[in-house]
Amino acid sequence: MASTSANTSTGGLGIGVRSPVRLAAVPHKEIGVAAALRAADDADFEVKPAIFDEFKLTNKVGVVTGGNGGLGLEMCVTLAELGAKVYAIDIHASPSSDFKAASAFATRLGTSLQYRTANVTNQGEIGQVIEQIADENDGKIDVVIAAAGVLGREHNVEEYPAEEFKAVIDVNCNGVFYTTQAAARQMKQARSGGSIILIASMSGTVTNRDMKWAPYNTSKAAVIQMARSMACELGPDRIRVNSLSPGHIRTKMTAAVLDKQPETEAFWASLNPLGRIGAVHELRGVIAWLASDASSFCTGSDIIVSGGHTIW
Ligand SMILES: NC(=O)c1ccc[n+]([C@@H]2O[C@H](COP(=O)([O-])OP(=O)(O)OC[C@H]3O[C@@H](n4cnc5c(N)ncnc54)[C@H](O)[C@@H]3O)[C@@H](O)[C@H]2O)c1
Repeated sequence: MASTSANTSTGGLGIGVRSPVRLAAVPHKEIGVAAALRAADDADFEVKPAIFDEFKLTNKVGVVTGGNGGLGLEMCVTLAELGAKVYAIDIHASPSSDFKAASAFATRLGTSLQYRTANVTNQGEIGQVIEQIADENDGKIDVVIAAAGVLGREHNVEEYPAEEFKAVIDVNCNGVFYTTQAAARQMKQARSGGSIILIASMSGTVTNRDMKWAPYNTSKAAVIQMARSMACELGPDRIRVNSLSPGHIRTKMTAAVLDKQPETEAFWASLNPLGRIGAVHELRGVIAWLASDASSFCTGSDIIVSGGHTIW
């Protein structure tokens, strides 16, 4: 009897699978070779590139935590350039001058970039702000990027204070979890699918040579596995979850190290085959791809963009 009910619940697709396997339709789009074949048969078929349209986020709503500066702000502008209405969430009560310039830029692009304050370590607070953003947009949030993060102090592992370890985990791991669950709630309710991008780090896969960042590295490994786990749960609702793992890029976070020990930049640069650290704008392409339908079959992946740091 037990095996009969297992077969029934899985539609006969596998004994031992706990949840029913729901098959989804494979999307068909007349682009690429399909467009070429149509054009071959129909001289009136309008021939034009479709690849750039696949990246468009027109009429989409995007949310970026840690959007007041650094990588998060660059990601806000990327989403705005693709046509999305964008909300940055950050811990500061008021936005930075860089944010204000980016917001004015978004307006001149014909869209908007707004600022909201929340501490991602506060589950209720981040949940409420994301819910308010959804309410302002008829329940719709299409893209959420969890970029808020802290590095923590560089310090010997055997002496690392518990409170400092917990503080790093609280922002980088718990905060990303609370952000993602709030996003998933809204996306599930709206039944419109979505793309969630968790900003991890190459430090979740490899250890930064000679840097004593055990708490940070630990938190980023957790983010990579969080993305995979959430991708499994949310896939049936057409919500994709991926992690993006940058290598060394100069921002306020890394400037804290680079400005104190300028020789560190050459050392970090020597650790990848391109021989340099990255610039914030070098994540724009991968963000555009992960956020948009251009990556519609990608979920649960960790995309490493590190100048090749992890291949040595
Ligand atoms: N810069 C790099 O080389 C690098 C490399 C790999 C990964 N990352 C990751 O990219 C993300 C962005 O980092 P960045 O380099 O732009 O650093 P950053 O310090 O410039 O930006 C981090 C942002 O997160 C915000 N933030 C911190 N704690 C918060 C909290 N509790 N609630 C809400 N917002 C909070 C900060 O106010 C800041 O605006 C982080 O997750 C970081 O770990 C950075």
